[in-house]
Amino acid sequence: MLVKVFTLLLSFSYVISDGQVRQMVTSYNPGCQTQKCPECSPGVVYVQAKGDNDILHYVVSALGGPPTALVIKTNRPKERYQLNINCKMMASKNDTERKAAITLPSGLKKIYSYGVVFSRLFQYNDTADKADITAYNINSTKWRVYDFTEFEWQDITTWSSNNLIVMKVKTSGEVMDAAFYNESLVLQFHMFDHSDRSKELPHLLYDADSTQFDFTLQDIDTGNYSSARWGLETVLLGSDKKTTGMHIETKKSIDDEYTPGVFEMSNWLTRPGNEANGGYLQWKPVCYLKPGRARSVATKVDYTNLASTSDVNVDTFLQSSIMYSYFPDIMSVSRSATNFTFGLESDGGFTKTNFTSWTAQLGFGAPPEDKVSSLVVGVISAGLGLPVILIMFGGLFVIIKKKTSKEGYTDLDTDRSNIQ
Ligand SMILES: *[C@@H]1O[C@H](CO)[C@@H](O)[C@H](O)[C@H]1NC(C)=O
Ligand SMILES: *[C@@H]1O[C@H](CO)[C@@H](O)[C@H](O)[C@H]1NC(C)=O
Ligand SMILES: *[C@@H]1O[C@H](CO)[C@@H](O)[C@H](O)[C@H]1NC(C)=O
Ligand SMILES: *[C@@H]1O[C@H](CO)[C@@H](O)[C@H](O)[C@H]1NC(C)=O
Ligand SMILES: *[C@@H]1O[C@H](CO)[C@@H](O)[C@H](O)[C@H]1NC(C)=O
Ligand SMILES: *[C@@H]1O[C@H](CO)[C@@H](O)[C@H](O)[C@H]1NC(C)=O
Ligand SMILES: *[C@@H]1O[C@H](CO)[C@@H](O)[C@H](O)[C@H]1NC(C)=O
Repeated sequence: MLVKVFTLLLSFSYVISDGQVRQMVTSYNPGCQTQKCPECSPGVVYVQAKGDNDILHYVVSALGGPPTALVIKTNRPKERYQLNINCKMMASKNDTERKAAITLPSGLKKIYSYGVVFSRLFQYNDTADKADITAYNINSTKWRVYDFTEFEWQDITTWSSNNLIVMKVKTSGEVMDAAFYNESLVLQFHMFDHSDRSKELPHLLYDADSTQFDFTLQDIDTGNYSSARWGLETVLLGSDKKTTGMHIETKKSIDDEYTPGVFEMSNWLTRPGNEANGGYLQWKPVCYLKPGRARSVATKVDYTNLASTSDVNVDTFLQSSIMYSYFPDIMSVSRSATNFTFGLESDGGFTKTNFTSWTAQLGFGAPPEDKVSSLVVGVISAGLGLPVILIMFGGLFVIIKKKTSKEGYTDLDTDRSNIQ
C-alpha cells in the first residue's frame, strides 16, 4: 500500500527538464523519387533534427545487412540544411558510388559524427546456466551465429513514422532453418525533439540530442538448444582517429526510483574525458522477459570487455553497413565492439518466455544522469529529520517533566512543611 502511494507520488514528480526543442523533418529513401523504392530495399530513413545552433542528421537503415544508425552533427546554416544522400548509391554494387552516397554540401560543416552498428547475434546453449557468453568455446557445438549481413529485412517505410523508426526482420537466412521471421526481431528507434523521461521501463532520461532504441527478440524456435541465451555484438564508432580509445564507465546510485531494483547506469563513451563533445551509448543493466515490462520479469544485461573490431573480425560488417557510405575510410576511424548479453543465472533463459526486450540510448554530449529527485530528498530528510525532532522534543519533554515533577515535590514538601 505504502509502495503504491509512493509510486503514485513519483509519477507526478517526473520533472520535464528544460533544454532546447528541435524541429524534426523525416524523409524516406532520399534520392529515390518514390517512398517505396525497390532499388533502396529495405529502405533508408533520414531525420533532420534542427536545433537553435546546430543540426543532428540521423540516417538509419539495414541496407547491406547490419542495422545501423549514423548521426552527423553539423552547424546550422541559413539555407541548405540537407545532407546529400542517395539511397540508390548506398545500395550500389559499385564501390565508387557507395563511397560517395552520403556527403555534406558546401555550407554544412561537420562538428562530430558517431553511430552504432549491430554486427552479429550469437545464440548459445547455456548448459552451465551461468549466463556468461565467454564461458564457451566458439568452436564447440553450443553456438549458432547469425550474421546480420545474411538477414533479410522488411521495408523500413512500412512501419516507421515521424518519431519512430522500425526495423523488422523478414528472414534470418540459412542458420537453423531461418528461425527468425517477421516480428521475431524488432529494432526500433524513438526520435526525440525535447527532453523528458521515457514512459516505459527502465524510464531512461532523454534529451533533444539522443535517440532511444528497443531491441526485441521473440517467438524464436531454438530447436534443441533448450537453454538458449543471446549475445548482441555491437560496434560504436566516432569520427576521431583510430587511436582514440573508447571506454565504458558504470555509475552506481543509491536511488532506484525510476527503475526499481536497478542501481547502475553505464555509458560507453566515444571521447572519454571530452564527453561534452562526443557520442555515447547509454543503458541500465536490465532487460525484460515479457512484453508487459515490470520488475517481476526483469533480468540482467551484461557486456563483455571492449574489443578492437579487427581482433573480433567485424570490420567487414562495418564495410557492408551504410556507415561505409559516409566513412569510406572506415578502417581509420575510432571504433570498438562488445557483446551485450541478456539474462542471469537460473532466470530460465530466453526459452522460458520466448521473449527478451532491451532499451538503450544513443546520443551526443554528456550522457543524461539520474538526479535524486526532490521527493526522495524530502523523504530522506524527513527520515533523518524526524528522529532529530523526536529527540529534541523528547529531551524538552523530559526537562519539563522533571521540572514540573520537582516543583511537585517542592509543593509536596511545602505542603508537608505546612502540615508540620
Ligand atoms: C562506378 O561508378 C563510377 C561513378 O559513377 C563510374 O565512373 C565507374 O565507371 C563505375 N565503375 C564500374 C565498374 O561500373
Ligand atoms: C542444451 O542444454 C540443455 C541443458 O541445459 C541440454 O539438455 C541440451 O541437450 C543441450 N542441447 C544441445 C544441442 O546440446
Ligand atoms: C576456432 O577455430 C578456428 C578455425 O579452426 C581457429 O582459428 C580459432 O582459433 C578457434 N577458436 C578457439 C577459441 O578455439
Ligand atoms: C510474415 O509476413 C508475411 C507478410 O505479411 C506473411 O505472408 C507471412 O505469413 C508471415 N510469416 C510468418 C511466419 O508469420
Ligand atoms: C518460441 O516461439 C516459436 C515460434 O512461435 C515456437 O516455434 C517455439 O516452440 C517457442 N518456444 C518455446 C520454448 O515456447
Ligand atoms: C541439434 O539439432 C541439429 C539440427 O538442428 C542437429 O544437427 C544436431 O545434431 C542436434 N544436436 C543434438 C545434440 O541433438
Ligand atoms: C562476441 O562473442 C562471440 C562468441 O564468443 C565472439 O566470437 C565474438 O568475438 C565476441 N565479440 C566481441 C565484440 O567481443
